[in-house]
Amino acid sequence: MYVWTQSGLLPAAVLAEQLSGCKGLLCLLTDQISRPLIDSLPELEFVSSMSVGVDHVDVAALTERGIPLGHTPGVLVDTTADAAFALLLSAARRIVEADQYVKQGNWRDEKAWSPDFFTGKDVSGATLGIIGLGAIGQAVAKRAAGFGMRVLGFNRSTREIEGIENVSLEQLLLRSDFVSLHVALTPETVNLMNADRIASMKPGAVLVNTARGGIVDEHALAEALRNGQLYAAGIDVFEKEPVEADNPLLSLPNVVVAPHIGSATVLTRAKMADLAVENIIAALSGQPMPHCVNPEVYS
Ligand code: GLV
Repeated sequence: MYVWTQSGLLPAAVLAEQLSGCKGLLCLLTDQISRPLIDSLPELEFVSSMSVGVDHVDVAALTERGIPLGHTPGVLVDTTADAAFALLLSAARRIVEADQYVKQGNWRDEKAWSPDFFTGKDVSGATLGIIGLGAIGQAVAKRAAGFGMRVLGFNRSTREIEGIENVSLEQLLLRSDFVSLHVALTPETVNLMNADRIASMKPGAVLVNTARGGIVDEHALAEALRNGQLYAAGIDVFEKEPVEADNPLLSLPNVVVAPHIGSATVLTRAKMADLAVENIIAALSGQPMPHCVNPEVYS
């Protein structure tokens, strides 16, 4: 057994070398489990990822080989919805900007308060558009209801959910003061929020992304935030992670960023680890994984 104990990214070459001859793999969302890697591992029998998203794994390549892939759904729903709402509130009410203002010693008598001092955007009573009405999207809708928001929803296959008005993606973008993304990154959703869709958002809207980076055209988003078409953004996930220092979103005061911490609470991470281990124990005992992404491998 090989265990990578460092906090840095596991280099692909080390992963490939150490996996050679292994029957199973427990990986994180930072490990790229590509088709060439899978093809180079004839002994591989199962993969368990401590993540709900599996866009870092070539699922088709595993399925073709009959290899089950485990993941960790359910346990991170509320934690991630809380994170989305935290970003939404922070972006709307300029919390990070205000925090820096005070901590950097700018809050002085000559700039102490005024009627337009750090004015933001109202959340309460606004319209929230949720793209992706899976468990996390629905949990965000519940939070929005508590804030007296009107909630619009768009899902690939329409889902009737109390309190959510189903609309087309175009209508959602046109009507929402806040848009929160909750779809998985798949070939269908890559660049879903492209330049045209960003341009079609309601002027002054706020975009929140706790899903995956590749869903949003970051350059188009930065431009819309720079030229004032959009009011602000709250971004937890990036196309390239860790985010590159010259990413245009990082230099904008109206963007609140976080380093992919949507599910990052002590309790939720422990629950995710438990599910990942349950999947491994099942695989080692010759049982179907209880949380399997490709259960068709068992039929
Ligand atoms: C987090 O992004 C996850 O997929 O678990």
